[in-house]
Amino acid sequence: PSTVSVGALARLLNIRLEDLQEKMYHSGMEAQSSFDHVLTSDYAVLLAEEFGRKPIVNDEAAFDLYPPPPHPNPQSLPNRPPIVTIMGHVDHGKTTLLDTLRSSSVAQGEAGGITQHIGAFSVPVPSSLANENGVQSITFLDTPGHAAFSAMRARGAHVTDIIVLVVAADDGVMPQTREVIELIKKDREKVSVVVAINKVDKPGAKIEAVQKALLVEDIHLEEMGGDIPAVHVSGLTGQGLPDLLDTISLLAEIQDIRAEASGNVFGYVLESKVVQGLGPIATVLVLRGALEPGAHIICGTHQARVRLMQDSNGQTVKHASPGMAVTVSGWKSLPNAGDEVLEASESDIKRALVNRKRKLDINTAMADVEAINASRQQERE
Ligand code: GTP
Ligand code: MG
Repeated sequence: PSTVSVGALARLLNIRLEDLQEKMYHSGMEAQSSFDHVLTSDYAVLLAEEFGRKPIVNDEAAFDLYPPPPHPNPQSLPNRPPIVTIMGHVDHGKTTLLDTLRSSSVAQGEAGGITQHIGAFSVPVPSSLANENGVQSITFLDTPGHAAFSAMRARGAHVTDIIVLVVAADDGVMPQTREVIELIKKDREKVSVVVAINKVDKPGAKIEAVQKALLVEDIHLEEMGGDIPAVHVSGLTGQGLPDLLDTISLLAEIQDIRAEASGNVFGYVLESKVVQGLGPIATVLVLRGALEPGAHIICGTHQARVRLMQDSNGQTVKHASPGMAVTVSGWKSLPNAGDEVLEASESDIKRALVNRKRKLDINTAMADVEAINASRQQERE
């Protein structure tokens, strides 16, 4: 059963603690009336009713929205683009590599919009490489270190299909290279890996030394008789990048990445900010369903009626399918990076919001009580 402290109950009812305590004296609950005394829900309901309220108590029965269960027949679903993150040690060339991938893809696009940083961008797979399984584009997530990633990882969300481990050929395996390797080993069943031996244009590049150092870390590259593909690239000159895209699309084909392209949207917010003229905007990475203007979505305790959607080239889009990331305007308040996005009917979103905000209030009130108790305890000591 739900519980609530006297102090928290007063806050929830938006009444003075003294008024609640007075009511409790008169109801023979004097012994339970200290502000940090925890009440069971039936007492809390009786007291709330004394103040003319009709509380909803049963947390389990309260309405909320949840991500869809796994599809019973995934083979029947259409493919979606793989979602790829680039990771590696400081200065090994992640940003340069992303920038080059991105600018070459922008150059390939038809109408040149203004590229903007939205936390993700899409690179078309050159038609000469596009494979039978329909891997036509690749979604790269920017800045893997940012808040959204930590938040999503912390709650065990696996958004990335493929990790590109960048190792600079002039520097070799370094502490953060090892960190990424640890991560890869943990998620082995869920993510594929391609090693990009980078900066091969440099006179000091020692490709063989990198291959051997990776072997020591238990990373067996295909070119050393193992099972992990590797490409030799230069983010600076663009050398080897078609190879990288080819390898990624092959890995995606093997993983056979599929998602429901219709029905209610499920995804994640990658970034959010307030923009003058647009209000709060958020980059939404769609994992399921099709996001379209007019849709009602919820993210944490924030909601939007989707207004304008734009891709990373600043182009307005009317439809974002799984694997795509778009900035979305129309939020009533700013959602948090790393939180789940769900689409539903307007009325269901409203109900879920009420419930989520109430839970948040209870948690805040409880946390307040705990903080006060803790500081009192300290005073006593
Ligand atoms: P952090 O974000 O600080 O972790 O670094 P990063 O991995 O994003 O590296 P970044 O792309 O900023 O590159 C670091 C330095 O290496 C810069 O001076 C780049 O110009 C240089 N660099 C990156 N890629 C290459 C490459 O392929 N060849 C050469 N010669 N230099 C490169
Ligand atoms: Mg960088």
